[in-house]
Amino acid sequence: MKIKPYPKKISFAGPSITQKEVNYAIDGVKNGFYENYFYHTKKLENTFCKYLGVKYAIATHCCTLALHLACATLGLKKGDEVVCTDFSWIATAYAIVYTGAKPVFVDIDPDTWCIDPKAILKAITAKTKAIMLVHSFGQPAEMDKIMKIAQKHNLKVIEDAAPAFGSKYKGKNVGTFGDIACFSFQGAKIAASGEGGIMVTNNKKLYEKALLLSSMGRTDSQAVFWSDMIGYQYTIANLTAALALAQVERIDQLVAKKRQIFSWYYDRLKNIPGLKIITEQQNSFSNYTYPSILLQKKFGLSRDSILKILKEHNIHARPGFPRMSRFPVFAKPRFKNPEAEKVEKYGISLPAAANLNKRDVDFVCAILTELLK
Ligand SMILES: Cc1ncc(COP(=O)(O)O)c(C=O)c1O
Repeated sequence: MKIKPYPKKISFAGPSITQKEVNYAIDGVKNGFYENYFYHTKKLENTFCKYLGVKYAIATHCCTLALHLACATLGLKKGDEVVCTDFSWIATAYAIVYTGAKPVFVDIDPDTWCIDPKAILKAITAKTKAIMLVHSFGQPAEMDKIMKIAQKHNLKVIEDAAPAFGSKYKGKNVGTFGDIACFSFQGAKIAASGEGGIMVTNNKKLYEKALLLSSMGRTDSQAVFWSDMIGYQYTIANLTAALALAQVERIDQLVAKKRQIFSWYYDRLKNIPGLKIITEQQNSFSNYTYPSILLQKKFGLSRDSILKILKEHNIHARPGFPRMSRFPVFAKPRFKNPEAEKVEKYGISLPAAANLNKRDVDFVCAILTELLK
């Protein structure tokens, strides 16, 4: 290839840090102790609830722990099955496993890479207690169909919205449909504080149970420091919450930037034959955290060779997740999940760090256009 490497690293992900984040972090350091040790955490939880349109939130050290908290709060246990997408970061499935319940991995919708409602129906047994879905890379899952199935079969619904803060389904924020939803503030997410997560619900009973579980089951009922149930130390650091708060307050701006990056990609790549671009569906609004493509025909180079050449040119793109059902910790999978297999083999997520400009994206597109001839 004749094109020279880019003079700077084109990062896959990374946050937009302004003076606001700096100010909030400094405020957290200077003022977030003594009687204010919980101030930024509470403000983060309240601001998040208000933005999303939910009643209750608990900020956690990370989204993995928020997901475990959700599973534990819903009472999942050994002998239970949870229908779970096969396409995600492993945190989604391990959160189920931590309770002793079993994830039953099912296929995804090829247009959104989110759990396929038809596949959920095929996986339901007498042991099924819940559905765990992911709003994959910011694309909303088909919540109407999923909630209908859940109601009919009396199943709980957990929305893993780790990358999807700011996305909407039929005009309503994702994370407001299921019994519980969880979001991530990890460094590669749209609103980032390095590590961090948040669990939300509209159900007061679930909130109260989750609150106890997230703080070591401490009730102080018989004595100070008394605990009435086995709990976990899952709460966020107040200082981290200060940084996350600044990002949450800027979410509309952060989503606008991601959508702009996506539109630059879309305009340059949309006419490449055999290349599918994952776009928001009718009635959906995506935050496009990770703009993604699928190689739908045989190009001269394999997907992994393409990623390698991008890397040589200072561009960090990512392959699709391997199907979790293939991981050695799980028993033989019940379903093959061919759509998830295609994304595992031929999917690419493109760089969309908040510091990218049009020139950076044009460079990525110029290389891809060359490679996908
Ligand atoms: C779909 C999904 N679920 C859960 C997580 C876990 O988030 P955290 O890193 O905050 O624990 C991630 C993080 O990448 C994710 O992408």
